[in-house]
Amino acid sequence: METSSQKREQFGSRLGIIAAAAGSAIGLGNIWRFPFMTGENGGAAFIIVYLICIALIGIPVMLSEFIIGRRAQKNVVSSFKVLAPGKPWFLVGWMGMISAFMILAFYGVVAGWTLEYILKSLTNSFAGKTPQEVGAMFGGFISNPLRPLFWQFIFMFLAGWIIYSGVTKGIERYSKILMPLLILIIIILDIRAITLPGASGGIEFLFKPDFSKLTALGFLNALGHAFFSLSLGMGVMITYGSYVSKKEHLGNATLQVTIADTAIALMAGLAIFPAVFAFSIKPSAGPGLVFVTLPNVFLKMPGGYIFSLLFFVLLAIAALTSAISILEVVVAYVSEDFKIARHKATIIITAAITLLGIPCSLSMGVMSNVKFFGKTFFDLLDFASSNVLLILGGFFITLFVAWHMGKDAARREVTNEGSLPARYYPYFLFVAKYIAPVAILIVFLHGLGIVKV
Ligand code: PHE
Repeated sequence: METSSQKREQFGSRLGIIAAAAGSAIGLGNIWRFPFMTGENGGAAFIIVYLICIALIGIPVMLSEFIIGRRAQKNVVSSFKVLAPGKPWFLVGWMGMISAFMILAFYGVVAGWTLEYILKSLTNSFAGKTPQEVGAMFGGFISNPLRPLFWQFIFMFLAGWIIYSGVTKGIERYSKILMPLLILIIIILDIRAITLPGASGGIEFLFKPDFSKLTALGFLNALGHAFFSLSLGMGVMITYGSYVSKKEHLGNATLQVTIADTAIALMAGLAIFPAVFAFSIKPSAGPGLVFVTLPNVFLKMPGGYIFSLLFFVLLAIAALTSAISILEVVVAYVSEDFKIARHKATIIITAAITLLGIPCSLSMGVMSNVKFFGKTFFDLLDFASSNVLLILGGFFITLFVAWHMGKDAARREVTNEGSLPARYYPYFLFVAKYIAPVAILIVFLHGLGIVKV
C-alpha cells in the first residue's frame, strides 16, 4: 500500500521513460491500424491530415499528460482529484478507464492474430500459396470461432503476467530491448516492397494526395488514429508520467516518442502499399490488410522464412508493450484507490477485459451479423474508443493543463522547477489553450455529422 511519505516507484533511467512511452505508442497502431486506415481513407491526403493532427494536437496532448502525471504523482483518476480537488475533472480519468477496457478488448484479439502468424511462419504455411490463397487463409482463421480466442487468451495472459510482476521490473525491462530490431526489419521490408514489379501504384497512393477522397469522417479517423497511435486521451502518459523522475526532460521525451512513433507508421505504410498494388490486393481491405499483404512480400524475399518469423515475433512484442500500458492505467487506479492488492487487481482486470474481447473476436465470424449502429462489435469498440472517447479525453486534458492548472504549475513542471530553459513553453501554452481544443472540437463535431461546415 502506498502512503504519501513513501517514494513512488519510478522508471530507473532516462531511457526508461522514453522506452516505456515509446513502447506504449509503438504497436499494432503503427503497423496494423495505420495502413488499413490509410487504405480505407484514400491514401496520401489522409496521411497529410494525420501528420498535421500529430504535430498540432498529438504533441501538446502528450506533453499535457506528462505534466499532469508527474505533477500529481498519481493514477489517472487521482491525478485529477489531487490537482483539482472537489471538481468534476476526475471524470476524465473515468472516461480513460472505459477507453482502456474497450481498446484492450479488441487490441488483444488482433494481438492474438499475430501469435497465430508466428506459428504460421514457423511452420512455413505461406509457402507456395498465391496471393488469393494467402488472403483466404486469413479469412478462414479469423472467422473460426475458437482458434483466435485461444491466441487472444494467451496474449492477454502474457500481458497480465508482465503487469503482475510490477512496474519497474516489468514494463521497463521488456520495453527497451527489441524495438530497434523491429525498425531494421521494416526498413528491409520497405526496400523489398518498393522494388517489387508493379509497386509504383502504391507509391503514388502514398505520396500523391487526392483531397477529393477525404470526407469529414476521414478527418475524424485521422485525428482518432493520431490519439490511438500515440496512446493519448486515456491516461497512459499520465500514469507513466507519474512514474517519471523529476529530473526527466518532459518536452524532449514527448518529441522523441512522437517522432519514433510517426516514423514507424510511415515506414510500415511504405512496406505495405507498394506490395498491395503489386499483388492486386484492395487498399481498402480493412483489418486484414497487413496480414494478407506482408506474407506475400516475405514469399518474394530471399530469407523470407526467417524475416516472416522475426517480423511477427517483434510485432507481437510491440503489441505486448502497448497492451501492458493500457492494463497499467486500470491496475494503477484500482489498486491504489480501492486499496486492492496489485496482484489481485491485475488478475480481475485482465480477466474482465479478456471476456469483453470474446464478442470482438466472434464478430469476425459467427457474430458478424450482429450489428450495433451498423457496426460489428469489434468495429463499434474501435470507433467509440478512438473516435469518441480518446478525442474527448485529449480535449479535456489540454483544457485542464492550459486553463485550469495555472500557467505557473505547468511551467514549473516542464522546466523541472526552473532548472531547464524550455523556450518552447509559450508556444505550447498557446497551442494547448486555443489551437488544439478548437481543432479537436471542429473535427469531432463535423466528423460525427453533428455540425455541418
Ligand atoms: N498506441 C498503441 C498502438 O499504436 C495502442 C494504444 C492505444 C495503447 C491507446 C495505449 C492506449 O498500438
